[in-house]
Amino acid sequence: MIDSRIKAVLNFVRLGSRVADVGADHGYLSLELINSGRASRVIATEKNQHPFEALSKNISGVAGIEARRGDGLQVLTAGEVDTICIAGMGGALIAKILDEAPEVVQASRQLILQPMNGADKVRDWLARNDWTIADEDLAESAGIIYEIICAERNSTAETFRRESSPLREKFSAQRLKKLQRVLDEMSKSPSARTSEKFSALQAEVDALKNHSQENIMTKLKEVQI
Ligand SMILES: C[S@@+](CC[C@H](N)C(=O)[O-])C[C@H]1O[C@@H](n2cnc3c(N)ncnc32)[C@H](O)[C@@H]1O
Repeated sequence: MIDSRIKAVLNFVRLGSRVADVGADHGYLSLELINSGRASRVIATEKNQHPFEALSKNISGVAGIEARRGDGLQVLTAGEVDTICIAGMGGALIAKILDEAPEVVQASRQLILQPMNGADKVRDWLARNDWTIADEDLAESAGIIYEIICAERNSTAETFRRESSPLREKFSAQRLKKLQRVLDEMSKSPSARTSEKFSALQAEVDALKNHSQENIMTKLKEVQI
């Protein structure tokens, strides 16, 4: 069965798109995109030799998928794809891959990004490069909740799948725990404790705590008689 993280990435792809699956590894996303009929064509890129060999083997004989060995989007030319999927990498690396192929990115219509960490770096990159977040979702796989960000040019979308996701509360709790751990660690160093990063993380912790407090109050109101 297809992993729910990969499924959530696939769900954002517009029907009939030509897709780049960057860092395709085993090629599960590429295969699902073609087998489900969601994509008309997939270019799967992979930088490293072992995963590239696995990818080539897994997609061999499947019409519609082409594997290319190379760094990020550098092995594509502008206009070859409508949608760029980058899943399973850190936010900083995703931003770097996008930065290094401006023409390919510029010629695409949709970016579907699933950072393993540093989602703020992905959001910053999108804002700096005039992409609008059109939708977001959460997906759980092996007990970990992942964020999936879909960006388009000039999107006017107002509701995100993420807002009605049953994983929302669990994600906030996980994030709160993680941030609290980082803050506890940073508190040990006077310079880290007075840094901008510390203040930003503290603000996020406060917002998450207020949000869960609001939810508790809403639930209490709901059960009042
Ligand atoms: C953790 S795997 C994620 C695989 C798949 N995209 C997924 O979400 O399940 C990351 C893959 O990206 C590849 N990779 C890392 N940096 C890359 C780059 N700059 N360009 C292309 N592939 C890269 C790695 O070799 C690895 O196979």
